[in-house]
Amino acid sequence: MNPFKYGCTVNGDFFCPRPALERELASRIESGQNVVMQGDRRTGKTSLVLETVRHMKSIALFHADFLCVRDQADVCRRLVAALARLEDSESWITKTIRMLAHLRPTVSIDPSSGTPTVTVDSRVAAEPATLDTVLDVLLAQTKRRRTCVLLDEFQDILDIDDGERTLAVLRSRIQLDSNTPYIFLGSIRNKMAEIFFKYSSPFYHSTAAFKVGNIDADEFFAFIRGRFATGKRKLTRQMFDAIARTARDTPGFIQELCDALWQMSSGGTTFEESDIQEALAIIFAREHDHFTFAIKQLTAQQTRVLRTIAERGGKEIYSGAFLDAAQVFSAASVKKAVAKLERENIIYNYDGEYRFGSPFFCEWLLRR
Ligand SMILES: Nc1ncnc2c1ncn2[C@@H]1O[C@H](COP(=O)(O)OP(=O)(O)O)[C@@H](O)[C@H]1O
Ligand SMILES: [Mg+2]
Repeated sequence: MNPFKYGCTVNGDFFCPRPALERELASRIESGQNVVMQGDRRTGKTSLVLETVRHMKSIALFHADFLCVRDQADVCRRLVAALARLEDSESWITKTIRMLAHLRPTVSIDPSSGTPTVTVDSRVAAEPATLDTVLDVLLAQTKRRRTCVLLDEFQDILDIDDGERTLAVLRSRIQLDSNTPYIFLGSIRNKMAEIFFKYSSPFYHSTAAFKVGNIDADEFFAFIRGRFATGKRKLTRQMFDAIARTARDTPGFIQELCDALWQMSSGGTTFEESDIQEALAIIFAREHDHFTFAIKQLTAQQTRVLRTIAERGGKEIYSGAFLDAAQVFSAASVKKAVAKLERENIIYNYDGEYRFGSPFFCEWLLRR
């Protein structure tokens, strides 16, 4: 069986323990403190919280994900869906439906998991008061049972039309619920900072900050080597370091590359650095449609800016040398191109440096 997973959360044997982080997080949850947790995409934020709560006795987990949320109605729908996932005992579903009765909820069974899902009428979900109602139900839950409330990819709420107002409503409700631990996860640093650390923001000073970086190299090497060993593949430290370099040390990308290495090998293999090229080719083939689609949405100029970032790195992108290399006339044009690339989630700003969301996309572009 393939011992690697990527692009989803991991648990159990697929999860490399992070004892220090798990302990700290558990103690905050235990004491009912709110936490804002920031880390790049695929560093393992969501998995860390899920695994930590799973090991804690008698605490339920409410998990709503706001990745690419469209509007306030969509915020409500995601909260309702998370409420319905909390417990699939019939009585709770019945009760939730009663509390949400005027939102005209419908219950359906998710065909893949077999669990019931509750959704609300989209016109009703769009009404401003609906958010309050849904949060009332959440409050009723946290009173009824000790619950950890996980609000994932929280920064995306800022992007919706009435984002500020939605955040203000959330904040006022969360203040009423001071014994419940709320965990806000975010992968876009500047946006999370805007929500939590700006004076004007209603979330200012409300939570403890918690940073999740990449997994310690020694620990992750031992874990990954162990995973390969389940299929009698051998991984040297040198090879692991080469994998980590290619995958920008990010757990999710390391696992993706290992998954490709696993596919191309059989029991008894000892990997060599040259295998990485073949593994990348597997990833490029899998991602071909996705990568070409991303490029097709860009103008020629935006593509040149992107390619130049791939070639030269994303640091001094307004310098004369960068403009020359990208064949762009003005810094203003670079700025516009970069804004588009950020909006499309192709690149992101990391402390003033532009980085590719996916190191594999960067490699793919360089080879074209
Ligand atoms: N503790 C871990 N052990 C092993 N792999 C991990 C771990 N955390 C994350 N990963 C890898 O990263 C991927 C993304 O994890 P996820 O928790 O969704 O990250 P995030 O929420 O930060 O985007 C997983 O599919 C897995 O490949
Ligand atoms: Mg996540």
